[in-house]
Amino acid sequence: MAHYFTNDDMPSHRQKIYVNVGGKSYEFITDNNVFSKKGLDFGTRTLLENLPNISGDVLDIGCGYGPIGIILADKGKVDMTDVNNRSLELTKENLKLNNRKAEVFFSNIYENINKKYDYIITNPPIRAGSKVLYDILLGAFKHLKENGELWFVIHKNQGAKTVLKKLELKYETKLVTKNKGFYIIMCKNR
Ligand SMILES: C[S@@+](CC[C@H](N)C(=O)[O-])C[C@H]1O[C@@H](n2cnc3c(N)ncnc32)[C@H](O)[C@@H]1O
Repeated sequence: MAHYFTNDDMPSHRQKIYVNVGGKSYEFITDNNVFSKKGLDFGTRTLLENLPNISGDVLDIGCGYGPIGIILADKGKVDMTDVNNRSLELTKENLKLNNRKAEVFFSNIYENINKKYDYIITNPPIRAGSKVLYDILLGAFKHLKENGELWFVIHKNQGAKTVLKKLELKYETKLVTKNKGFYIIMCKNR
């Protein structure tokens, strides 16, 4: 849980990582207290590699050091949020480093979000507990436009099947792919 609300208590140890997704190269600065600081998380990569052709208004909720929103920032108008201030600062730096633009702001779940999106895309914070997880996934319903889509990744050991069943009650859902236990799931308002 160290990389969530515990904002600046661990000394900084910045490093640069080099990432290639979809044939494009990116550089990211990461740090202690930030999710997957040593390299692009495999679940995040699997999610990115399975997204459709994104356009329109996009929300990257729980942006970490920023890989999802930054990689999508040349396709749509992206908002990026987190509760970890160090992540938010890194995301701003990483946008500049990769010559991309997006709005970056603090938001606990959807508390500071007052618009609707074509896509909400997330590698959600499992370790924040199931209430936060379901508030993010089920709460997306209210923040999606009529044909908007929620895309997320979750590992089978993190309860992917149970989560999928619960979401099926509210959304039209699709298990897009599975890779090494990571499930990529798409949900649409009915
Ligand atoms: C699994 S990490 C994903 C980070 C990044 N998107 C990536 O793929 O590398 C989940 C992120 O959610 C953030 N988070 C935790 N609790 C949150 C909350 N209540 N609201 C918004 N974001 C939260 C964490 O700080 C963390 O950066």
